[in-house]
Amino acid sequence: MIDDFRPMELWEPETRRDPHAFYARVRAAGTPVPQYDPAGNRFWIVARHADVLAGLQHPDIGHEVHRHQEPDLSPSPYPPSETERISSRQLIALDPPDHTRLRRLVSTAFTARTVARLEDWIAGVAAELVAHVRRLGRFDAVTDLADPLPVNVIAQLVGVPDEDRARFRDWSATIVSASDYDGSATLAFAAYVDELAARRRAEPRDDLISGLVALEDGGDALDRDELVAMVQLLLIAGQETTVDVIANALRLLLTHPEQWDDLRADPSLAGAVVEETLRFRGPVEIVPPRFTFRELDLAGGTLPAFERVGLSLWGANRDPEVFSHPDVFDVHRADVAGHIAFGYGSHFCLGASLGRLEARLMLEAVARELPDLRLADGAPDDVRLHHGGVLPLQVGSPAG
Ligand code: HEM
Repeated sequence: MIDDFRPMELWEPETRRDPHAFYARVRAAGTPVPQYDPAGNRFWIVARHADVLAGLQHPDIGHEVHRHQEPDLSPSPYPPSETERISSRQLIALDPPDHTRLRRLVSTAFTARTVARLEDWIAGVAAELVAHVRRLGRFDAVTDLADPLPVNVIAQLVGVPDEDRARFRDWSATIVSASDYDGSATLAFAAYVDELAARRRAEPRDDLISGLVALEDGGDALDRDELVAMVQLLLIAGQETTVDVIANALRLLLTHPEQWDDLRADPSLAGAVVEETLRFRGPVEIVPPRFTFRELDLAGGTLPAFERVGLSLWGANRDPEVFSHPDVFDVHRADVAGHIAFGYGSHFCLGASLGRLEARLMLEAVARELPDLRLADGAPDDVRLHHGGVLPLQVGSPAG
């Protein structure tokens, strides 16, 4: 069965047009399927729900592979640059014990209560954006509606004052789009986080950065690079994901008019729309790659030591063993809670409640205020942000 796969099939244009057909074949293969990325790295793709869960929780699959290799790779003679130091401290790329320690510290400040307190504020921003696109008439749901929301929410959560918001948005646009080629945006951003942290240390407020600098957890606290890395990760992990969910939820609703009618009639369905969008077309296709730390058995096969594992959330969320009629978009489905679009286990998305809240409040506002919303000419059959994705929509008369 493995022989049926071409070595770079995952990246071929035909697979990109219909990745779910590819993952259905991987599920049926009964063993991890090797694929080579354009840089020549071999990945073992796993796509059954139960196997992806097992992979996400496996004690010998993780990120810091260099710590398990013998002999230990000799340290580089050059000290790491500041940008390298910061990116090496990001929660998402660490294993225990560092991951456990950082995650605990950050979770203390990033509680469900902190997030819930933002609800009215986020609803206000969503209402302003919706009023803005009503005035535009024809607009792009990515640029005009979805994109401005998460960066403003992170700025508010972190505690960036109004007068600094424009600078914060500029740096984050560069960092999030991975176009900070010389590292200057990361360094300017780091200097700004230092400055803000110093201000909050002197005069704490009710915001995330005050909470993070005040942490004295049995003498343990975030050091400077960890603090900068954390704020940067919130931006990177929380921006495109949330925009992707909002844009694709709107696209799916407008291409399933009876479900769009249901939402307009009852905006409290917005939460269910968000969940089904996450299952049917979540923003994360494959979780950031992990490595095997030794030879091990997974998904019906044996994986060699020190190789990349590609755990596919898209594969898991369309597994017919967990979801009935998995390829049908249905906001009323009873089994949606089984989706793992936010991952699972120790790296489960830290911003899941925030992302859900933002997407739900935006869809509620759209359903209430833009009942005449429709696809404009040229609307794509998927919104892929990495490829400059747009979603042209229209309200009011065609001339508007
Ligand atoms: C709305 C849609 C979102 C989706 C579908 C999503 C998805 C994910 C997934 C799948 C992971 C796990 C990655 C892994 O296992 O390697 C993750 C981790 C993470 N997410 Fe999200 N995310 C979303 C929004 C957000 C938001 C709004 C924030 C913060 C403001 C955020 C912050 C994080 C952080 C910090 C991690 C790393 C957690 C860790 O490594 O312990 N995410 N997210």
